[in-house]
Amino acid sequence: MTEKKLKDIKRIAVFTSGGDAPGMNAAIRAIVRNAVHNDLHIYGIMRGYEGMIDGNIKRLETTDVSNIIHRGGTILKTARSQRFMTPEGRKKAYENLVDNDIDALIAIGGNGTFTGATKFIEEYPDFPVIGIPGTIDNDLYGTDFTIGFDTAVNTSIQAVDKIRDTADSHNRLFFVEVMGRHSGFIALHTAIGGGAGGVLIPEEDTSIDDLVRLLKRGAKRAKLFSIVIVAEGNHMGTVYDIAKKVEAEINLYDDIKVTVIGHLQRGGSPSAFDRVLSSVLGFSAVEGLLAGKSGVMAGIKNNTIHYTPFLEAISKSKPLNKDLLRMSHILAQ
Ligand code: F6P
Repeated sequence: MTEKKLKDIKRIAVFTSGGDAPGMNAAIRAIVRNAVHNDLHIYGIMRGYEGMIDGNIKRLETTDVSNIIHRGGTILKTARSQRFMTPEGRKKAYENLVDNDIDALIAIGGNGTFTGATKFIEEYPDFPVIGIPGTIDNDLYGTDFTIGFDTAVNTSIQAVDKIRDTADSHNRLFFVEVMGRHSGFIALHTAIGGGAGGVLIPEEDTSIDDLVRLLKRGAKRAKLFSIVIVAEGNHMGTVYDIAKKVEAEINLYDDIKVTVIGHLQRGGSPSAFDRVLSSVLGFSAVEGLLAGKSGVMAGIKNNTIHYTPFLEAISKSKPLNKDLLRMSHILAQ
């Protein structure tokens, strides 16, 4: 972790990177407003690390962030940059930041974003960088919640409610795939809040036999339809493969259907929770920079701001709440 003295930081730049998440705009707004409050000049870098490499950097005024708190996506756009993974890309980015007299960076993103930031700080240790966790996956160590997770879960649960109507009407089994490449947070919360009959997540080994047993137990109790939530990163294969395998084993329902909610989960107006979380984290990122912090992610644990080193945030895995998982299995029966 490096430190840069308060007097050195006059111009900071913010960017969003990786998958967009509802609430990123609320975070940008909080960063701009708190920076202006502290007499800093604030800049927006377009399309994440791509814009840093291309020099796509523009001044942000307080009015530029008016009327965005309720908007999904990111006004700064985003990208998954391959070029920033190379030393040449990072050198170009550094040169552009220096050319624009930028003193410090605020990165809003997930694991890939902070992996890039960690490499950048290793090579340019005099350049302060603070991160804010922005990903619907909620898979970052060092924060109880990431920006966008709550909205994504609300979106998924609304979809499951609708699927429930048609599943019930037709006595059908539905497999509903939600996002989460490496983690089951969205799936678990959707399963609990959506009253699902089962959940398949990367953090737990479940077999087709386990799943069939669970569904048969439900059918014995006169369950005529069921909904199973499948995290995209589960270990049993694609949601279509799983549905086919289960279909070969049971004859309890009139039909088996698959719904992939997909990128619907990434868009939409952020929930009240995400707007407040994003505002708090954006505000705290500026406070952190001014307090001389760098190489850390501002997160929230037990309603308190915590700054976790990037290295920890990207290398430690955030455990699922095992009690919640156990509860979801019991409530699914
Ligand atoms: O990391 C967020 C996320 O939405 C994952 O849940 C999902 O697997 C991935 O991004 C999809 O990324 P893309 O939009 O680049 O296909």
